Amino acid sequence: MSATLFSPFELGPLKLENRIIISPMCQYSAVDGSASAWHRTHIGNLSLSGASLMLLEATAVEAAGRITPNCLGLYSDANEQALAGVLDEVRQFSDMPIGIQLSHAGRKASSTPPWLGGSMLTAENGGWRTHAPSTLPHSDNETLPLELDRAGMARIREGFVASARRAERLNLAAVELHFAHGYLLHQFLSPLANQRGDEYGGSLENRMRFPLEIFDAVRDVWPATKPLGVRVSATDWVDGGWDLEQTVELARRLKERGCDWIDVSTGGLSPHQKIPLAPHYQIPFARAVREATGMKTIGVGLINDAAAADKVIRDGDADLIALARAVLWDPRWPWHAAAALGATIKAAPQYWRCEPRGANRVFEGASFGQR
Ligand SMILES: Cc1cc2nc3c(=O)[nH]c(=O)nc-3n(C[C@H](O)[C@H](O)[C@H](O)COP(=O)(O)O)c2cc1C
Repeated sequence: MSATLFSPFELGPLKLENRIIISPMCQYSAVDGSASAWHRTHIGNLSLSGASLMLLEATAVEAAGRITPNCLGLYSDANEQALAGVLDEVRQFSDMPIGIQLSHAGRKASSTPPWLGGSMLTAENGGWRTHAPSTLPHSDNETLPLELDRAGMARIREGFVASARRAERLNLAAVELHFAHGYLLHQFLSPLANQRGDEYGGSLENRMRFPLEIFDAVRDVWPATKPLGVRVSATDWVDGGWDLEQTVELARRLKERGCDWIDVSTGGLSPHQKIPLAPHYQIPFARAVREATGMKTIGVGLINDAAAADKVIRDGDADLIALARAVLWDPRWPWHAAAALGATIKAAPQYWRCEPRGANRVFEGASFGQR
């Protein structure tokens, strides 16, 4: 029998209860990189959703790697302590495994939050000069980034290592490295952003070098008993840019190095991208990577419908699905999917009594009585 959305799965050494993952979602609500009361509410809320793993938002490995001044970081003792406080509370009522996405925004750093327009933040308004593989801006009219030199690259690599060590001290269950959405490591991969003349630019081999060095450095310090994955953009959606063929080659290299999953997204590198948005539009990329490499894959993007999500797993298009907008809209999406598909799911006992008539025994082990 083929697997279903509610069948268990092993992500490397991590046992997952079902195939639903909460996709990383920036909250732009940190203070100097430190988690705030918003994170208590947000992470607490989603930790009750019944998904099998939550990946925390893109978390910067150095202050200059934050997308906005309000982005989460894991580059200081204060950042680590603040997140420890949030996680200690959440873990009192949820045993959902929580992982984290580690990131550096490169030339897409120093922006305003989306609800303030998401444009480049000038120095007068609290912004900073960004770094990138080459002195090419993300969009025309933006201040040029500075080209990263070897010292800068070594500093960023150490930032990833130090943040991974902090993630381990926080007892996080998994780390995902952000190679997607036009941020620094995607900038190294894509010929549209990387026009370096040294051994980190030019050929595919050279463009993959820095991201793979970062992967190796993190793999060295992140325990072998915990999974380490990578999120990629499988295409830039621009002719002459990063594409599926190169993604497959990257995935092969990552597999050899002990990468436990590939989370297959697309786009984000160029304002010239032309994306054919439609339900499940990125799933064929996940399937192609899975077929070509045999890697465990996460499919993501415009997944809303439970039966259609179940079909992704049944058809072997991906091993897992990640939800972002659908689970913000309906934080009990996994409960409702379980009800629709006739499956059971774990829920906090405080909520067991909410099951409506007709939704028969969705909650695992639920029973209650009253005088
Ligand atoms: C509010 C919000 C914040 C996001 N932040 C991140 C992020 O931190 N890292 C990331 O890789 N993707 C991020 N994304 C992209 C999602 O993880 C996901 O890939 C994308 O939204 C497509 O899935 P969806 O159709 O289920 O929303 C974000 C999306 C949303 C809506």
